[in-house]
Amino acid sequence: MCLGSGRRWRLWRRCAEGLPRISSGCTGERKQTIGGASSGAATTQTRLAVAFGRRVLWDLGLGLVWRAREANRVVKVAEKMTGVVIDGKETAAGIRKEVKRQVQALEEKYGAEAGTPGLATVLVGSRTDSATYVRMKHKACAEVGIKSIQRQLPEDITQEALLEVVRALNQDPLVHGILVQLPLPSHINEEAILAEVALEKDVDGFHPLNIGKLAMKGRQPLFVPCTPLGIMELLRRHNISLAGKHAVVLGRSNIVGMPVAMLLVKANATVTVCHSQTTDLPGIVKQADVLVAAVGRAEMVKADWIKPGAVVIDVGINSKDDPSSKKGYRLVGDVAYDECASVASMITPVPGGTGPMTIAMLLQNCATAASRTLGAST
Ligand SMILES: NC(=O)c1ccc[n+]([C@@H]2O[C@H](COP(=O)([O-])OP(=O)(O)OC[C@H]3O[C@@H](n4cnc5c(N)ncnc54)[C@H](OP(=O)(O)O)[C@@H]3O)[C@@H](O)[C@H]2O)c1
Repeated sequence: MCLGSGRRWRLWRRCAEGLPRISSGCTGERKQTIGGASSGAATTQTRLAVAFGRRVLWDLGLGLVWRAREANRVVKVAEKMTGVVIDGKETAAGIRKEVKRQVQALEEKYGAEAGTPGLATVLVGSRTDSATYVRMKHKACAEVGIKSIQRQLPEDITQEALLEVVRALNQDPLVHGILVQLPLPSHINEEAILAEVALEKDVDGFHPLNIGKLAMKGRQPLFVPCTPLGIMELLRRHNISLAGKHAVVLGRSNIVGMPVAMLLVKANATVTVCHSQTTDLPGIVKQADVLVAAVGRAEMVKADWIKPGAVVIDVGINSKDDPSSKKGYRLVGDVAYDECASVASMITPVPGGTGPMTIAMLLQNCATAASRTLGAST
């Protein structure tokens, strides 16, 4: 670490002022060395030259000692800053257990059929990634005892037919939550479909009224989108305080960036939202006490962007070529994990960070929806 020139000068002055005392032994030596020289201007010049030389040497020596101390301090800080891993998998497993207990309590109270929460998924077309996500959600539902109902629809379904499917699910008393898997084909008006989902079944939290309430001070939406909710839950369960902190969100999408920014504001953080037009991204990220990266760019955030001790939440899921892996690729986040982990105080891995939390929050929202509908206290 370099000292600023002003600070370095003041330090030099302070030490230089103490020189006569420190170097009193040297004065005798100097006397010895220059004792034989004639007195007068030449002697004074020689004395000044020697004194200057000593000061330069002192300065150099002091600089070296200072640098060594600083290097030592930086190493110690770096040792301390080996980021604690925020284990989303473990946290999500805990939440799934809580949901399972909630589901059992509902079944005990309202009977196996009426009391079992039901989640309907609507999948349009044959995108393999969407099909995988839906499959994962059904598997997670089964694990906690939530019944899943699937509507698999053709790619060329009309807008009206899709609206009808959603309306029918709205009317079904055994369906407590409805999830329309995004993205929808381009001929479908996504906004209209999401607005059709009954507010009390909007477990994905994308209904405009829920999003609107999320954006307003003093209002509470019925449901909050699952990935942002999972991020907040991770922060809460790891005792990360947000009030007064500077949170930087990378990305402004409807499903992650914007809702998480609104939640962070509600939690009293000061929030900066960055996007593809933001200038000096590294400089802004460097100010973050808490960073949420959701851009979908593999390992974009580097270690020298991170403020030492920051909390880093990596939402990105990107595949990166990896010939050493069986699949030929591996999943990485938006943050260069290994290098950033040594600067951050806490960091989420990819995979195993925010991903498992998203599904856990969907299950939680679904159990909450059923509890509200059935009249049980949540
Ligand atoms: N962990 C989970 O459960 C979960 C859930 C959802 C998504 N994800 C992952 O999270 C990532 C983001 O998802 P998303 O749906 O929010 O993505 P998205 O809709 O594509 O939005 C990406 C955002 O990042 C911004 N952006 C893109 N490139 C940028 C750059 N070079 N510099 C600064 N900003 C940039 C975009 O800015 P503009 O607005 O200006 O275009 C946009 O706001 C993806 O990797 C996705 O797979 C994970």
